[in-house]
Amino acid sequence: KSMVNVEFNPGGQSVALQKGGLITEAMLTAGVLLPLDCGGKGTCGRCLVQVEGAVSPPNDAEERLLDQSRLEQGFRLACQTRALGDLRVVIPDTAETADSSWRIDLGDLSATQTNSPVITSVDCRVQAPTLEDPRADLRRVLEAVTPPAAGEGEGELWGDPATATQITRMAREKDWNLRVYKRGSEVVGVAGPGDAALGVAVDLGSTKIAAYLIDLEKGEVLNSRGRLNPQVAFGADVVTRLQRAIHNPDDRRQLTSLVRRALGDLVVELSSSVGVEPSCITEMSLVGNTAMTHLLLGLPVEQLGAPPFVASLDQAIDLKAREIGLNLAPGAYLYLPPLVGGFVGADNVAMIMGADLDLPGPCRLGLDIGTNTEVVLTAPGSEHPLLIASAPSGPTFEGAHLSSGMRAMAGAVSRVQLDKGRLVWSTIDGGKPAGICGSGIIDAVAEMARGGIINAQGHLDQSLPQVKVDERSIRYILVPGEQSATGKDIVVTQADISQVQLAKGAINAAAFTLLHLAGLEPFDISEIVLAGSFGSNFDVENARSIGLIPDAPAAIYRQVGNAAGKGAQQMLNNQEARIRAEAIPSMARYLELASEPLFNKLFARSLAFSKNRS
Ligand code: FES
Repeated sequence: KSMVNVEFNPGGQSVALQKGGLITEAMLTAGVLLPLDCGGKGTCGRCLVQVEGAVSPPNDAEERLLDQSRLEQGFRLACQTRALGDLRVVIPDTAETADSSWRIDLGDLSATQTNSPVITSVDCRVQAPTLEDPRADLRRVLEAVTPPAAGEGEGELWGDPATATQITRMAREKDWNLRVYKRGSEVVGVAGPGDAALGVAVDLGSTKIAAYLIDLEKGEVLNSRGRLNPQVAFGADVVTRLQRAIHNPDDRRQLTSLVRRALGDLVVELSSSVGVEPSCITEMSLVGNTAMTHLLLGLPVEQLGAPPFVASLDQAIDLKAREIGLNLAPGAYLYLPPLVGGFVGADNVAMIMGADLDLPGPCRLGLDIGTNTEVVLTAPGSEHPLLIASAPSGPTFEGAHLSSGMRAMAGAVSRVQLDKGRLVWSTIDGGKPAGICGSGIIDAVAEMARGGIINAQGHLDQSLPQVKVDERSIRYILVPGEQSATGKDIVVTQADISQVQLAKGAINAAAFTLLHLAGLEPFDISEIVLAGSFGSNFDVENARSIGLIPDAPAAIYRQVGNAAGKGAQQMLNNQEARIRAEAIPSMARYLELASEPLFNKLFARSLAFSKNRS
C-alpha cells in the first residue's frame, strides 16, 4: 500500500502513514498524544485538529460536532479523518497534550524517617586491585562491606551482577571510596561517598501520573512532577482502554510501552531537577488501579474485560525495575502493594493507608472521587473492618464527557458563583477561560440549583436569557464565545447536568449502601475523608448541597490531598508500611455494587437536587 507523509505542528514531527489511515494513527506514531476521551468514536471532539492536504470528506460524526465554517477552515476530527495524500496537521494551542504539566497537590507532607528502611547505605573504602590481589570489582566491594570470616568465602551479602558495570566505573572515578546501597543482603547500586540514596514513589492514575522524588534517608520529598497519562490517547476511561487492549495486540503493546516510557521520562525529569543521574535512584514504589498495573506490567487483561473482572495477580510485587525498561540504579527494584480485588487496586490500598483508614478508630467514610469513585467505610468491630465499593461515577469530574469540559489546568473555569441571578466564574490561573473543570461544574450546578436556574429534577429554566435552546442542545451560556480562549461559548448543557446527576447519584448511593450493610446510620460517621486531588480542590459546601457527598456537618470533612500518593511514599522505604499495606486486603470486604439491589434503588433516589440542602 502506498504511504503518505503526515507532519504535525507546532511540534514538527513527521511520520509515514498508510494512505487511507486515520490521523489519530499517525498521532500515536509521532507521539502527539491528545486525550481522546471517547476513544476515537467521534463523539467527544477532543481530537480536533486543523488539516491542510487531501483527506476524506467529513462524515456524519464530524457534521454533528463541527459547523460548516469550522469545516471550511480545515478543522476536522482526527479520529474520523483519513489521509489521502501528504498532510500538514495543526494541533490547536488550546488542546491538552501529554506534556501538559499538572499541579500536584502534595497535601501536608512531612519528612517520614523510618526505623525499618528498605534501602540502607554503607560508606566504605575499597582496596584498590594489585597484581597480588586481582579480585574482581564486584567481589572486592562485597568483601569491603562485609569482610569474609576467616576460612569462609564471601559474606552472605551478594551483588546483582547488573551492578558490576556501575561498580567498575564508579570505583575508579571515586578512587575506591564508595557508598554502597543495600536492599537486605543484596547490593543494588553504588555512588560516591555521602551521596543521598534516592527513591521515587509513583501514583499511576488513569488520567495523570504523579511522581515524587524522595531522599530515602531523610524521608524528604525533594521534588514532584505530574503529567497526563499518555494512555489517554486510547480513551478517557479504563474500560475503553481495556477493550482496545483486548481486541488489538498492537494497541495493547502500545498502551504498555506508552506508560513505561512516561515513567522513564518522569524519572529523568525528577533526577535532573536535583542534578543527579537516574542511576542514583535505588528504589521505586508504584500504586495504580488494577487495569493500570496490569497494563504496566504486561499482565493478561482479557479476564478484566468481563464479569467477574478477575485480576491476574493480586499480591504485592517486587521486581527489578529494569524488567519494565526503567533505567534506575542497576539493581533497583519496583515495589507494588497488593490489590483488594476486581478494579479496587493497589491505589486504593495506598489511599486507605495514606488516609489512615486501616488504623483502629470510630466509623469513618473515605471517598476517592474519580472516573470510578472508591468508597471505603470503616466498620469498627466487624469481621472485615473495611467495606469497599467502587462507584461508577464516570469521567465527568475529570472534565471529560462534558460539552465544554476540560481537565483542571490553566484556562479551566474552576469556581462559579451566583451573583444577582447570574453565574460569575473564575479560572484556575486567572487567564482566559477555555473550558470548565470538575470543581467548576460542581459549583455551577450547585449555584444553579440554589438560584432556581435548574429545578429539583435538574431541568434548566428555558425562560432565562442565558439559556439557549436549539436542535443541538439546551444550554446555559456560562462564558460567551467572545470572552473565551477558544472563541466558542463555554456552556453547561442539560446533558452535562444529567452527567453530574448520574455521578453524584452513584457516589451517594454507594456510600449509603455500605452504611446499610454495616448496620450503621449516617450520624455514626465521625469523619469523612475526601482523597484525591479532585476531592481536595472542590468546594465542600457546594458538593454537599448537590448531594455529591453526604449531608454531614462541615467540621467532619477532611480533605487530605493525594492520599494514594502519600501511601506510595510511605511504602517506598519503610518495611513496616509495606507490612501494613499487605494486611489491608484481608481486612477488606469488596462489594460489587452492580449486584446489590439496594444500590440501584438508592441510585434512582439520589438523582434529584434538594433545594433545602444548603
Ligand atoms: Fe475523536 Fe473523541 S471525537 S476522539
